[in-house]
Amino acid sequence: MQELGKQIIFVGGKGGVGKSTSAAAIAWKSAKAGEKTLLVSTDPAHNLGDIFSQSIGGQTIKLTENLFALEIDSEIETKKYINSVKENIKGTVNTRMMEEVHRQLDTAKASPGADEAALFDKLISVILEEREHFDKLVFDTAPTGHTIRLLSLPELMGVWIEGLLKRRKKTNDNYTQLLNDGEPIEDPIYDVLKERKDRFHKAREVLLDHDRTGFIFVLNAERLPILETRKAIELLDKYHLHVKTLIVNKLLPDDVDGKFLQQRKAYESQYVEMIEDTFKHQELIYVPLFAQDITSEEQLEWISTYYL
Ligand SMILES: Nc1ncnc2c1ncn2[C@@H]1O[C@H](COP(=O)(O)OP(=O)(O)OP(=O)(O)O)[C@@H](O)[C@H]1O
Ligand SMILES: [Mg+2]
Repeated sequence: MQELGKQIIFVGGKGGVGKSTSAAAIAWKSAKAGEKTLLVSTDPAHNLGDIFSQSIGGQTIKLTENLFALEIDSEIETKKYINSVKENIKGTVNTRMMEEVHRQLDTAKASPGADEAALFDKLISVILEEREHFDKLVFDTAPTGHTIRLLSLPELMGVWIEGLLKRRKKTNDNYTQLLNDGEPIEDPIYDVLKERKDRFHKAREVLLDHDRTGFIFVLNAERLPILETRKAIELLDKYHLHVKTLIVNKLLPDDVDGKFLQQRKAYESQYVEMIEDTFKHQELIYVPLFAQDITSEEQLEWISTYYL
């Protein structure tokens, strides 16, 4: 099945190549076709709002008929996340310890990686919960490296939690034998970890389901984006996430006038050839460079006509 027809689409690529524009145009097109569509930005530097000339925030809003948008705010999500962890461990440690645990959690909130963990948790809830309310989810992601980390996290976190669970089970088993006359002891932390593991597992299943989920990369006909895209595709392949469609964006129109632009166009053709050689297994969609930035629904409509 064609990637654009899939229920969940991730749009990735290097900074500035046109990810947000492409994600918006894909979502626009599917909404126009009558599918209830949610466009989600996971990029900390959002610009979906600019494209639709209205501010989008941490709450899902309706943009037009069938088209909804959400920008995940990692700062707010971090706060929510820490609070939920506090809530989760309530009753599992005594009051004296609680104060210390809270202090530690508040420190964790400011530590590197906290934003990413929170963003990731929110991403998983959007994938698991929102897909039931929408026909289509389109994710506008952050530049390549960040996205790859995000997409590979279900696997990494799964393995990590698995380890924690095993260790916890062993300790519990020992306690059970020693202190509880063989009666299993209840362990709320084990349950919390187990639930998270199950969620990661479910999210991974969705990400790996080729019939439902597609990965599209956007690139420009320039050397560095080509090399970076190739590296990213290889890396994602290792996690069994296969990029099957590339949008080659901002191509100079065929009828450019002036010597300078014609020379530029000749260069570009070489890079288009390089793209065709490098990405033999991907479907390639070509989108021209427009004279203006893409900031209106009419322009999204133009762009989306290039997606077959
Ligand atoms: N085909 C096009 N023709 C003309 N302008 C374009 C085209 N595609 C994108 N643009 C413009 O290029 C700029 C960058 O596009 P966009 O914001 O979609 O890139 P991005 O990959 O999301 O960037 P970032 O990595 O910063 O999130 C925007 O101003 C957008 O309007
Ligand atoms: Mg963007």
